[in-house]
Amino acid sequence: MVVVAILAAGRGTRMKSDLPKVLHSLGGRSIVERVIASVEPLSPSRRIVIVGYQAEEVKTALQSSSLEFVEQTVQLGTGHAIQQLLPHLEGYGGDLLVLNGDVPLLRTQTLEKLLQTHQTYQNAATILTSHLPNPKGYGRVFCNGDNIVQQIIEDKDCSPAQKQNHRINAGIYCFRWENLAQVLPHLQANNAQKEYYLTDAVTQVGRVMAVDVEDEQEILGINDRLQLATAYEILQARVKEKWMMAGVTLIDPQSITIDDTVELQPDVIIEPQTHLRGNTFIHSGSRIGPGSLIENSHLGANVTALYSVVSDSTIQTGTRIGPYAHLRGHAQVGANCRIGNFVELKNTQLGDRTNAAHLSYLGDATVGTQVNIGAGTITANYDGVKKHPTKIGDRTSTGANTVLVAPVTLGDDVYVAAGSTITDDVPNDCLVIARERQVIKSGWRKNRE
Ligand code: UD1
Ligand code: CA
Repeated sequence: MVVVAILAAGRGTRMKSDLPKVLHSLGGRSIVERVIASVEPLSPSRRIVIVGYQAEEVKTALQSSSLEFVEQTVQLGTGHAIQQLLPHLEGYGGDLLVLNGDVPLLRTQTLEKLLQTHQTYQNAATILTSHLPNPKGYGRVFCNGDNIVQQIIEDKDCSPAQKQNHRINAGIYCFRWENLAQVLPHLQANNAQKEYYLTDAVTQVGRVMAVDVEDEQEILGINDRLQLATAYEILQARVKEKWMMAGVTLIDPQSITIDDTVELQPDVIIEPQTHLRGNTFIHSGSRIGPGSLIENSHLGANVTALYSVVSDSTIQTGTRIGPYAHLRGHAQVGANCRIGNFVELKNTQLGDRTNAAHLSYLGDATVGTQVNIGAGTITANYDGVKKHPTKIGDRTSTGANTVLVAPVTLGDDVYVAAGSTITDDVPNDCLVIARERQVIKSGWRKNRE
């Protein structure tokens, strides 16, 4: 049985930000959400987040019924943070997995290995360590030949000789809670930072074993914006490798960004300068970019999207988007449509084989199949107070520069003459002309004097 505690009470001074450090975004999710996600597959019996600096903001950002929050009202160190758990874990006889809330790249397998070692050797504590070429800022771990930890000394408390030890504490620990609970009340703050260090408890609980992490990138702690950017690069490299190995072509991967929440099928091609965000799913054979942003959207097979922005929308098989199209607000485009140059769709549904090829705005519209939206067709959907719907039937064509003043309905097989301003509903199967007739006045120039 394991309970997880996540340390997230610190402000993160080195971020130089009003936002608590753990809420800074890293590839679409906050730093601490990533830490929480890494423990999910372990099915812990409880997950406790220790909050302090801007506790309310952190709690709101993490609204999830199964998380518990414990407040550390003053931040007197990582040991002091874990002391706050004492009243909440009274009588608990299992293990406590402690994670730093600012170490977001940990893999679940690494945690599994830590827990396994802890249980196999029946240690009082097991900690994650690594040998870093540049260990500056990290606590140094001193072990005997059998990986049994003798001491952990914080960087600021190390002598020059101790600093030569490059084995560092990753800030990830598994404790037998009964042992830790006995030691916690007796921690002292006699160190350079005048803080109660959790690392001091480690050496008092009994036998403590160090386990080296396989990939040292996993234990990168985020203390400043530079480390945040480094973490993003590592994350991107992981995500891109995964999709390339799964059969996705990335052309110029360096110029592409993909959130790890995105799902792609084999034979998707992502062109340069393209960004895929949030809950996006793209089916096989689609070619996205160059220069597109797709977020929280579902794209069917063989869709193309060239220099376009697609947000919160759905596009069916074989539809071509762009160049320079903008779909947003739950646009739903059918199969084999064409949405072309400078066309914006907002909260609009288009049936199959409908085209809107040039310079249009369709907002709050429901459009049938095989419709042709002429260049410059605009739905006037907003009267300054409310948004109104427009309906267009199957096989209807709007001429260039049509204005549809909503609420308005056009039937099936309607032809709208170019330059019309449609204010009244139009029945099926007709031509509608809603503009002034052209007037020609011969000799007008001579007669005007
Ligand atoms: C800590 C470890 C160090 C290790 C490093 C790994 C201690 C004393 N040192 O140092 O050995 O190498 O992590 O990244 O533990 N926090 C609280 N309450 C507090 C203080 C901190 O919740 O009173 C939280 C912070 O929000 C953060 C985490 O604990 O998520 C770590 O704190 P931080 O100040 O960054 O510790 P480090 O100096 O990095
Ligand atoms: Ca840190």
